[in-house]
Amino acid sequence: YNTYNAPVVQCATGAILPDRGDTMSLLSVRVYPDPSLRKPAAEVTVFDRDLNTFIRDLWETMLAFDGVGLAATQVAVDLRVSVISWKENRLILVNPRIVQAEGEQLGDEGCLSFPGIFEKIHRPQKVRVEAQDADGKPFSIEAEGFLARALCHEIDHLDGRLMIDHLSPLKREIVRKKLLRRAREERNNP
Ligand code: NI
Repeated sequence: YNTYNAPVVQCATGAILPDRGDTMSLLSVRVYPDPSLRKPAAEVTVFDRDLNTFIRDLWETMLAFDGVGLAATQVAVDLRVSVISWKENRLILVNPRIVQAEGEQLGDEGCLSFPGIFEKIHRPQKVRVEAQDADGKPFSIEAEGFLARALCHEIDHLDGRLMIDHLSPLKREIVRKKLLRRAREERNNP
């Protein structure tokens, strides 16, 4: 069982997302409890230049913040789009959905919308995901281990679900307080 054995979209910037001379912009990543993180994203139906530009910006933003993945909901864009960059895996996921999941794993998880927070979270060990690429072409991937975790995390985002939803209410409250305290400190010492 390979990390993935179905066609994977290699989306290194400049490869399948050609630089069309547009200005690249870094997007503003929303931090919990920003309400946009809770809004389920709308299905992508138009695969045009605007979508490609947005995906490129999303990709660059993920890299700029040293993230493994980033979902459109995290930059308050109402589209089912997410990107993942982990080891040799560079994925653009448009309208992704988990069609199969098996097993279980427990491991550390972080999120650009929860800065400084790492929590042990249960996820399926293996998943099969169907999605479309930036041009609307369908593909599917099978992943296990950390990549399966990242796929679940990103698809959760597109449904308005967050990593803390997988924690016990007590743990969730601890994380929430930690983030509020940090936000307060940052306001006091900008
Ligand atoms: Ni996240």
